Order: sequence, then C-alpha cells, then structure tokens
Amino acid sequence: MDEIKKLVEEAVSEINIAKDSTTLNNIRIKYLGKKGLITLLMKKLKDLPQDERPKFGALVNDAKNVVQNRINEKLREISEMEKRQKYEKMAVDVTTPGARRDIGHLHILTQIQKELEDIFISMGFEVVEGPEVEDTWHNFDALNTPDWHPARDVQDSFYFTENILLRTHTSPIQVRTMLQRKPPLAIVSPGRVYRRDYDSTHLPMFTQMEGLFIDKNVTVKHLKFTLEQMVTRIFGKDAKVRLKPSFFPFTEPSYEVDVWFGNTWLEILGAGMVDPNVFKNVGYDPNVWSGFAFGLGLERIAMVKYGIKDIRDFVRNDIKFLENY
Ligand code: PHE
Repeated sequence: MDEIKKLVEEAVSEINIAKDSTTLNNIRIKYLGKKGLITLLMKKLKDLPQDERPKFGALVNDAKNVVQNRINEKLREISEMEKRQKYEKMAVDVTTPGARRDIGHLHILTQIQKELEDIFISMGFEVVEGPEVEDTWHNFDALNTPDWHPARDVQDSFYFTENILLRTHTSPIQVRTMLQRKPPLAIVSPGRVYRRDYDSTHLPMFTQMEGLFIDKNVTVKHLKFTLEQMVTRIFGKDAKVRLKPSFFPFTEPSYEVDVWFGNTWLEILGAGMVDPNVFKNVGYDPNVWSGFAFGLGLERIAMVKYGIKDIRDFVRNDIKFLENY
C-alpha cells in the first residue's frame, strides 16, 4: 500500500511540472501503459492472500484513476495555456499609432501653372496646348524672326533636322491658334520649351506660359491691366508691374516686364503688341485686328515668389526641396 501511495505521489509530481502534452503522454505510458509501473502492480495480486486481493485491486484501480484524472486535468490546463499564449501573440494594440502613408502633392511648377491658368480663365482666357517638337516656320519665320536671328543658331536650339527642332518658346502656339481660329481670341498656353543653356539660372528645359489676346482696338493699357491682375493675384495686392522697352521680332512695341515684390523690381516676362508682320503671316488684316502677347517663365515666377536661388532645384527631384511647396 505504501508502494502504491509512493508511485501515485511520484506520478502526480511529475505531471505537475510537465509543460506539454508529449511529456504527459510519456508519463502516462510510464505509469499506466501496458508495462507501466502502476499497471504492473496488478501482477502482484496473485501473490496476495485471497481475502486481501479485492481491497488491493481497488486501491490499484483508484491509483490508476487518480493518475489518469490528474493527467487529463493537466492536459486541459496546458491546452488552455497554449490557447491563451496564441491569442496573446495575435492580439492587436488598437492604441498603437498607425503607419501613415504619404500621398504626395503636385510639383511646385504644376501648382504655379494651375494657379496661373485659373487666373487667366477667370478673365475669359482659354488654355490651349501645342507640340514641343516644332518646325522652324512656326517657331521662327511666322513670328517674324529672320534667318540671322541668334535664337535660330544651332548653338542656341536643339535641332532634329534643318527644319525641325524642340521649340525654343511657347510663341509658336500664337501662330498655330491664329491659323486654326478666327479673331477675337484670348488664350494662354503653358508648356515646356528648350534651349542650349545650363547654369544656376538657366535650364535646357524650362516652362513658359504664352498669352495672346486679339480684338479690335487693343492697346498697351489692356496688356498692362491684364498683367496687373495676374501679379496681384500671384504675388499679393501690393505687387506692381513696370514695362521697360525691349525687343522681340514678333511684337512692336516690345517690353520687358518687372514685378515689384519683396521691395525690389524683378524681371518676370516678355511682352508686347502683336507685330503687323505676324498678323500678315497668318492672314489677319493688321488694319482691323490688334492684340497683345506675353510669355512668362514659370520657374522664374516660382523663384521670385518663393525665393528659390537655383533653378536646377526644380528638376533635381530632391524630396526635401519638393516638400517645401
Ligand atoms: N517668346 C519670348 C521669349 O521666350 C517671350 C515673349 C512672348 C515676348 C510673347 C513677347 C511676346 O523670350
């Protein structure tokens, strides 16, 4: 009887420290298996006197039950614990800050372009676009720009053939629009233009916006008023414009236009009254029609407005620069 008690105690203490079901199964085999320590006790039955046998048998059976029950209990505990551990691992802390995804925004030049488009659209202008690969007639000849003009030099432009080049300005859109439509006209045309330049204030590819307004009796006052509307909306109500005499083959008179901003005059565009020769080249009667044209550099506008020093920043794709605007 002592032996039975001892075996049960041993079995129970082994079960108590078991940590997984495999260990428990081994304990079961060790004590209750076919050759298990408790099972083997039954074999001693025949060595006992007849009258003690039932009692002994009952004790061994009790011992078996105690051990088996304890194993079952422990198995339940272990599976509970495993479940709990699994759920703890799966648990989500809903108070943890989420990983935020940056969605980005429009490039500063695109923003400026849209801002300008909105301003001109509000004054009745229409946005039109044209090809970046141009022919010399639209880019130069029709714009009264003769052969000897330095802009036509291969040193200054990108030619594919003698007559095909990357447009050097958005002014050929003036020509294309006048040929396609009938006056009166009010258009702006944003787009990329190309020249053989590269330094901190010049890129080989940059962005312009052309403006063309044609009607009867158009004067420099209309031009100046339109530009004043534009600069006060881009640079604020204190901004002023100043026209300085200049020269472009396709305007007469021609002006360089300065904006008063940040306590200085800054040059931001070229402009003028459409040259009668340009009207003749597109079949408009210069005695009936008059108009103004202007061409602004979008990089220039952005540099003045935001104090950007190096024009190359627009194309460097440096996220730290782009995020500022
Ligand atoms: N096309 C000129 C340039 O690129 C700018 C301009 C446009 C001037 C329209 C007058 C009128 O420099």
